[in-house]
Amino acid sequence: MSILVTGATGQIGSELVGALRQRYGADQVIASARRPGNLPAPFELLDVTDRSTVEKVVSQYKIRVIYHLAAVLSATGEQDPQRAWNVNVGSLLNVLEVARNQGVHQVFFPSSIAVFGPNVPRDRTPQEACLNPTTMYGVTKVTGELLCDYYTRKYGVDVRGLRYPGIISSETPPGGGTTDYAVEIFYAAVEKGTYTCFLREDTRLPMMYMPDCLRAAIELLEAPNSRLRYRVYNITAMSFTPGEIAAEIRKHIPGLRVEYKPDFRQAIADSWPRSIDDSPGRDDWGWKAEYNLPQMVEDMLARLRGRQAKLLSTPS
Ligand code: SER
Repeated sequence: MSILVTGATGQIGSELVGALRQRYGADQVIASARRPGNLPAPFELLDVTDRSTVEKVVSQYKIRVIYHLAAVLSATGEQDPQRAWNVNVGSLLNVLEVARNQGVHQVFFPSSIAVFGPNVPRDRTPQEACLNPTTMYGVTKVTGELLCDYYTRKYGVDVRGLRYPGIISSETPPGGGTTDYAVEIFYAAVEKGTYTCFLREDTRLPMMYMPDCLRAAIELLEAPNSRLRYRVYNITAMSFTPGEIAAEIRKHIPGLRVEYKPDFRQAIADSWPRSIDDSPGRDDWGWKAEYNLPQMVEDMLARLRGRQAKLLSTPS
């Protein structure tokens, strides 16, 4: 079973490749991205907006499963909405078309809490709330979810997805998202002891630590199809505000100072859920997050400090 990961040098991709290789064998997982990264082979340069190169790679490696992670995130998407549409929707359509034509069995699609708009219950937002996003990123993710449904129903491609909350990770920083502050604050705390946050102190958003994010994708794709009531599931691990994560980090770095200077990303965050109801995923395929806020903060700081210590002890 050969697996292709697109966007493999990105925040999730760079770690998912390692997790998949450990589980299914290193030579079974083909990493791909638009630019070269430092991932070990097999690696292919791949622009997913160009269908012919997707066809070529899928046929060359006889790919049977695609984790399609290449996408533009919410804040970058608001700066150039037309590009966000072209990259996010265009590339998904390419992947789905190649999948149905070349016998790919499964496709994984990372959706987002951004599919919801301000008109739904913002606390414990349910799976079946109406999807009226106010960002182009959200529009592309709702479209993506509909395409997942369509290709499953019409062509029998087994497409599955998760509505990820903000993802916190220690290896590759995210780029262009509204929840990125929750990663930036760790680097700033460890390196400088001060951080200027682009969201208000009381902005509550759903979040998840990378190990849970990776496990969720793998578990969803391994779940028996007969158990699934939905193609794309709500998923969450914790919810916190910038003020709360700063307080948790201060338990380890008491001197951390945080200033709040909200910018255009505040309006995006204000249109999203504060917390998510992920009970359908728990019921259908046994989803359960492992990391809460204190556990995540402890692990993140240990990793970043470990890396810092290693850098300092390496002679230049
Ligand atoms: N983390 C993403 C973003 O902020 C949400 O899907 O854009």
